Amino acid sequence: MATVRKKKIKIKKKNFTIFIIIIILVIFTLFELTNSVVKFLTKPKEEVVEKKEEPKKEKKTNPKLDELDNINEKLSYFKEYNINRYIEYKNSHPELDIVQVIKNVNMNLDKTPYVEATEIEDKNSQIVLVNKYYYLGDNFTPNNLENISTQYALSNMKLVNYAKEAYERMAKAAKEEGLKIVAMSTYRDYTYQVNLYNRYKKQDGQEAADTYSGRPGFSEHQTGLALDVYNGKLNYTDFAKTKEFTWMSEHAHEYGFILRFPEGKEKETGYKYESWHYRYVGTEVATYIKNNNITLEEYIATK
Ligand code: DAL
Ligand code: ZN
Repeated sequence: MATVRKKKIKIKKKNFTIFIIIIILVIFTLFELTNSVVKFLTKPKEEVVEKKEEPKKEKKTNPKLDELDNINEKLSYFKEYNINRYIEYKNSHPELDIVQVIKNVNMNLDKTPYVEATEIEDKNSQIVLVNKYYYLGDNFTPNNLENISTQYALSNMKLVNYAKEAYERMAKAAKEEGLKIVAMSTYRDYTYQVNLYNRYKKQDGQEAADTYSGRPGFSEHQTGLALDVYNGKLNYTDFAKTKEFTWMSEHAHEYGFILRFPEGKEKETGYKYESWHYRYVGTEVATYIKNNNITLEEYIATK
């Protein structure tokens, strides 16, 4: 009996020990848990935020690029594909403001005339731009050429039909006011321009010739939309001195014509002032160009 009691006491002791161990473990676990919660709650908030924040992107420091970014949103004629040319042109012309840089590049003034020129796609367009950067080539003849009435032109002077009609209406209106406008050089084909340009080149040298004559394939006369006029008396080079010139300065746009190479616009057009050379572009564009005192180059570059 005594051994049985002893055994029972032993078991009770064992159970008590296990109970105490469990209690200790529970207390320890609870303590650890409370500690973790307190730690988490007392952690500084910034630390948590900071961990989530992504590294800041490096800010652009090139002022020229920033300038272009700002202008991009405001200028309708900013061309994304010209961006590197704008940057280069601005670097080589720091004196120009960014709007002027964009206009000049859009006019191709950063390119080498003739050498970096592009062949025109829509050669029959009413507003086709032909200059030292855009050429027609050696096998373009415009559609619908017609002779101008000899009342208003020397013989065999051709223009594209709608330009011819507009010109005749203009010359007639001038005549009704006692003025005489005579077309003396209108459509010129490629071969004609070869001979003309070569003559000028021989006479004045290439550099000088390039200031007043289109190279073959680069002359607007090949479009059938351009013409030179005089008043039937004075040499065409003196047209600026005539009443007819004053009248045309006021009225040519009403018939769709612009003075194509104005004074003070040599940089834009690439040619010296020609008071006698007019170009049909339609009344809407001609009126816009006149009212804004711009050239066809600037019109196309800012469209
Ligand atoms: N005189 C103009 C520029 C031409 O030859 O086309
Ligand atoms: Zn001309």
